[in-house]
Amino acid sequence: MAEATSNVDMAKAQKTAEQVFGVLGGALVSAMIYLGDRLGFYRTMQSGEPVTSDELARKMGLHERWVREWLQGQASAGLIDYKGEGRFALSPEAAMVLANENSPLFLAGGFCALPAQMAILERLPESFRTGLGLPYDALGPEGARGVERLLAPFYRTQLVPVALPKLDGVVSKLKAGAKVADVGCGGGIAAIEMAKAFPQSAFHGYDISRHALERAGENRAKAGVTNVTFHDARAEPIPADASFDFISTFDCLHDMAHPEVVIAAIRKALKPQGTWMIADVHGQPSFEQNLTDNPLAPMMYGFSVLCCMSSAMSEPDGLGLGTLGFPEPVARRMVTEAGFTHFKSHDFDNPINAYYEVRP
Ligand SMILES: C[S@@+](CC[C@H](N)C(=O)[O-])C[C@H]1O[C@@H](n2cnc3c(N)ncnc32)[C@H](O)[C@@H]1O
Repeated sequence: MAEATSNVDMAKAQKTAEQVFGVLGGALVSAMIYLGDRLGFYRTMQSGEPVTSDELARKMGLHERWVREWLQGQASAGLIDYKGEGRFALSPEAAMVLANENSPLFLAGGFCALPAQMAILERLPESFRTGLGLPYDALGPEGARGVERLLAPFYRTQLVPVALPKLDGVVSKLKAGAKVADVGCGGGIAAIEMAKAFPQSAFHGYDISRHALERAGENRAKAGVTNVTFHDARAEPIPADASFDFISTFDCLHDMAHPEVVIAAIRKALKPQGTWMIADVHGQPSFEQNLTDNPLAPMMYGFSVLCCMSSAMSEPDGLGLGTLGFPEPVARRMVTEAGFTHFKSHDFDNPINAYYEVRP
């Protein structure tokens, strides 16, 4: 034993142990954010008014002892401010991230998928042995809802006013009346937001997830828009008739078992003068660069194993790109191979995604 530890740097081992505790802390605080979102703590505290655990428990119809433990944990994590004398407050800045579903920085919504994502761990050892991942729907309805709530803030606050106007000639076509597809549309929020803004245009969302398509139907009914149709892409693929003026793919190519097939279909579906907008995870071109220049890399590799790469490996010959697997050089190469000739990068100040404007 003494020999085995003789060349161990104990200070470094100690630091690793602290790091691992920190990581465990992050996981457990994440579980508490899940409860905060689910029980409505953040929304109830959104006014910023300092409250005691007793006041908050009475307001929310919850048990004071549990509320106190949750508040103290959130204050220890620095998410909620402790104001002294047993009072806690949610700052306006934290409210943007944790309470306000219409803020561009809202993140708490994605945590609703956490239990489903963790439950999948029971099934992943088998995937590590066989190589075969789990389809997107293995995460159940909450998996689809979590992705939708994580990504929707961009569509609600940035897509129409900030992003679309930066694309050459797209807004004028949408105003006049265009045919549009959102491929890998998930819960349909992007298509619905565009449909609300451009009533002259017809929008078509394509996806293969039963749970996502169910959400999309519900979201369309809630929004009351009539110019969006959702299609199960397995039964009704995007037509290869060069009829679309504008196509978008948001955060989905890296999840697909065969993005090259979908990219080829998009090439055939788009008009010669049409535009394709891609949003995909802002990865560095190499693992080495992700290691040194991407502080989100540990989280992204985690999401990849739990969801994105798993879905991209869910068919025996799946390409398996994964969360960080579609950085700009890969995007550029794959769209060029499919016959597109124009490729332009955009930065819409999004911490997660890179954006590309692509034309035939
Ligand atoms: C991370 S989600 C993004 C959903 C949506 N674009 C959003 O931003 O909320 C990826 C989506 O791609 C869909 N997808 C995967 N393979 C697909 C395929 N071959 N055709 C269409 N959609 C696909 C999944 O079902 C899932 O809904």
